Amino acid sequence: MSFISSTQAIPEARTVPQHVAIIMDGNGRWATKRLLPRTAGHAKGVQSVRKVVQAAAKHGVKYLTLFAFSSENWRRPQEEVSLLMRLFMQALDREVAQLKNQGVRLRVIGDRSQFDVKLQNMMSKAEAATEANEAFHLTIAANYGGRWDILNATRRMLAQNPQLCHQPDQINEQEFAQYLSMAWAPEPDLFIRTGGEQRISNFLIWQLTYTELFFTEQYWPDFGEAALLDAFAWYRGRERRFGRTSAQVKIKTTV
Ligand code: FPP
Repeated sequence: MSFISSTQAIPEARTVPQHVAIIMDGNGRWATKRLLPRTAGHAKGVQSVRKVVQAAAKHGVKYLTLFAFSSENWRRPQEEVSLLMRLFMQALDREVAQLKNQGVRLRVIGDRSQFDVKLQNMMSKAEAATEANEAFHLTIAANYGGRWDILNATRRMLAQNPQLCHQPDQINEQEFAQYLSMAWAPEPDLFIRTGGEQRISNFLIWQLTYTELFFTEQYWPDFGEAALLDAFAWYRGRERRFGRTSAQVKIKTTV
């Protein structure tokens, strides 16, 4: 199944966002502030991932997408990159059985070919183990970049439809979006970035076009259920217009 873009159809107004996308920033600073190695911040960050997954599911979110490792993160010191890879493997090893029993479908988006083969296999196994689940969709963006996603979609679309090279006017947003790595999900309603920076940093750049953007100073290891509920309260106060006027939105929220 693929969803119609918010530029084609306006999603129904909801009090709880259906899809939340998060940039989990501030792990390093959380640790440095405590005179700990940056890697301790990432280990603590895994605990926040667990808390936020549980809280999001409990409060009615259906899709949670977490930016765990960007295509730019390879530039970090080698030992920090290795620790992050170990944390992914440990998390997959420890959590998948429970996610499976809780009805969570886990997917990994991004260019996985750069990862260790063992980690690639663990990702594929985790996806296969949870593929029948539908209650909650947890997506981890790993070696992901929004520009990579758009380029990759373009390549796949043209490889499968070579005639489009000679008929570029046949390509429309809806058709194209089917080749993006999250074609099966509605676009995010709420984007959260912790750690004080106000950037999208090459996350889901196509899909975030109409998303409400929430930035908090809190570091990711300090983020949990209470902070998530604060973000939802802020979200409820937003008026999502999708290009319409305020008066139009007040008369009818789903056109
Ligand atoms: C940003 O903090 C965080 C990361 C680059 C990695 C996020 C990874 C985790 C939370 C752990 C693994 C996740 C899963 C899904 C098992 P930063 O290091 O950029 O912090 P800083 O801006 O303070 O330096």
